[in-house]
Amino acid sequence: MSNQRSKLVVGNWKMHGRLAANAALLQGVARGAQALPRGVGVGVCVPHPYLAQALALLGGSRVAWGAQDVSAHEQGAFTGEVAAGMIADFEAAYAIVGHSERRAYHGESSGVVAAKAQRVLAAGLTPIVCVGETLEERESGATERVVGAQLDVVLAVLSVDEAARIVVAYEPVWAIGTGKSASSEQAQQVHAFLRTRLAAKGAQVVNVPLLYGGSVKPENAAELFRQADIDGGLIGGASLKEGDFLAICAAAGAGADVVS
Ligand code: 13P
Repeated sequence: MSNQRSKLVVGNWKMHGRLAANAALLQGVARGAQALPRGVGVGVCVPHPYLAQALALLGGSRVAWGAQDVSAHEQGAFTGEVAAGMIADFEAAYAIVGHSERRAYHGESSGVVAAKAQRVLAAGLTPIVCVGETLEERESGATERVVGAQLDVVLAVLSVDEAARIVVAYEPVWAIGTGKSASSEQAQQVHAFLRTRLAAKGAQVVNVPLLYGGSVKPENAAELFRQADIDGGLIGGASLKEGDFLAICAAAGAGADVVS
């Protein structure tokens, strides 16, 4: 059932970490990642102040790094904001945009998320565009309408070539940090739907990596990653534990058909 695309596992540390603890975690992940099959990509998205530490400790390893958010503006009088170009200065590969915690607690609309994705691409990084429905939306049968609209607003502002360079993460809000993952069937169903939306943008866009996020653990990762349209994971809590994160990466390795 697994697909022909490579796998990608990205950690989202959220607002966790301190220099000393980060060093042990980053070095442990870099060391452990050496043993993974080549078809598995690994990344960690750290708080902005730790991008320099990620560069210092992950540079030359096979673990990429990134940020968890970025400004929708290029530069200017936007106190407290961090520009995509600044993140690029630290050789980051990724920036998450539109995480549900940003949408819910910082009022980010899909329009803002789309502008952020454009900034990230313009800086030469890969945006990880998050979409996901609340429990209420799922229970009222609105899942596809909600995630489809979230994705379409972003795709609408991108050229086909740009759209082919994004990563999409499906993160049902009710599964984030709750310990209650979507079942592999539920996740696959939404991923298949998102794949059709990507395909509608253009043939080059259909194979954009589609990650699942929401209570991914070593125990459920392999089953999720075996699904036809699940190309890996965006990992919150478990990415803070070296052993768990590496076990999830290894589960992705077991499902990676392609050694690139
Ligand atoms: P958890 O893995 O802690 O549920 O978080 C998922 C997430 O929000 C990743 O971006």
